[in-house]
Amino acid sequence: MTGADRTVFVNTAAASTGGTGVPSESVDLTAPFGGGTLPNPVTTASGCAGYGRELAKFLPLAELGSITTKTIMPAPRSGRPTPRMAETPSGMLNGIGLQGSGIEHFVANELPWLAERGARVLVSVAGERVEDFAACARALNGQPGVVGLEVNLSCPNADNSGLVFAANPATAHDVVQAVREVAEPTLPVYAKLAPDVTSITDVAKACVRAGADGLSMINTLPGVVIDTDTLRPHLAGVVGGLSGPAIRPVAVGCVYAVHAAMRAGECAAVPILGMGGIRTGRDALEFVLAGASGVAVGTAIFNDPTAPLRVLDELREALAARGFAKLTDAVGLAHHH
Ligand SMILES: Cc1cc2nc3c(=O)[nH]c(=O)nc-3n(C[C@H](O)[C@H](O)[C@H](O)COP(=O)(O)O)c2cc1C
Repeated sequence: MTGADRTVFVNTAAASTGGTGVPSESVDLTAPFGGGTLPNPVTTASGCAGYGRELAKFLPLAELGSITTKTIMPAPRSGRPTPRMAETPSGMLNGIGLQGSGIEHFVANELPWLAERGARVLVSVAGERVEDFAACARALNGQPGVVGLEVNLSCPNADNSGLVFAANPATAHDVVQAVREVAEPTLPVYAKLAPDVTSITDVAKACVRAGADGLSMINTLPGVVIDTDTLRPHLAGVVGGLSGPAIRPVAVGCVYAVHAAMRAGECAAVPILGMGGIRTGRDALEFVLAGASGVAVGTAIFNDPTAPLRVLDELREALAARGFAKLTDAVGLAHHH
């Protein structure tokens, strides 16, 4: 089927006024974020745009709804040995590990630079123990430019044989609660969930009960690529995280399931930040229709550093073409059968 053959369904409000579209420049892209809003729904996915310096050569950071930093831990870390990347069908596998210079360096050197550029910064934090997450959150209180914290639950828990915090509702709950307790009350705390769990909905519910103001989903899926010439795993760390278009249906499915639980009243409603293989505005719209009110662009940035801004423009066009005057009118619409 070609693009021209596809039927584009318009929203009923627009159809009832006889229109099939609205001017794209008039679409209201204001996006729910925690208890507040951001000017638009597009951010960068953690780890795919560093701390923004490289990206700033390609686009004005302040034009994105926010910039999500790569995950920051209390102390500097060197990450995993190379090779750390492998190509996969419709995606990539990375085994970078959580490399970084630590929270103090970030606050002193990276955050002021981001704030000067007017970037709204969603800071991704993690640690090996619950108190590490809290220490990062504390260090960010009162800092310029920070609009929220994203708690990366896909980090090995030193107190539980290295099983990631996201692996079960109880450990996810404890981390989110600890961060929520120390973070400034007005600062939204997002929990970033992993897809390779028995029930992402149960983990989502535990995070919201613990005080999460939003949910980011999904992180990468674990995978292995074997090099058939060397006859060994391609990545030095063997297992890597799969990202890119290959995981998009998994990600949309997770957003759909959690939004459905919110609609059913099984989980308090908080905004969802969707990600996983977004390359175009149409991809982003899929997440919005499934229930996301924000979207993050990750792997696509490695091919096209302008992708986040292009996705924003294309999403605006896609909403306008379908008669949506507001982003929020499209959020979760796929659930209205
Ligand atoms: C190279 C690379 C590094 C990443 N680093 C992080 C990270 O530091 N923290 C994190 O929460 N997610 C990290 N992720 C996961 C992304 O933020 C995102 O959840 C995932 O890749 C799915 O989105 P995508 O398919 O658009 O990349 C990383 C992904 C890639 C490809």
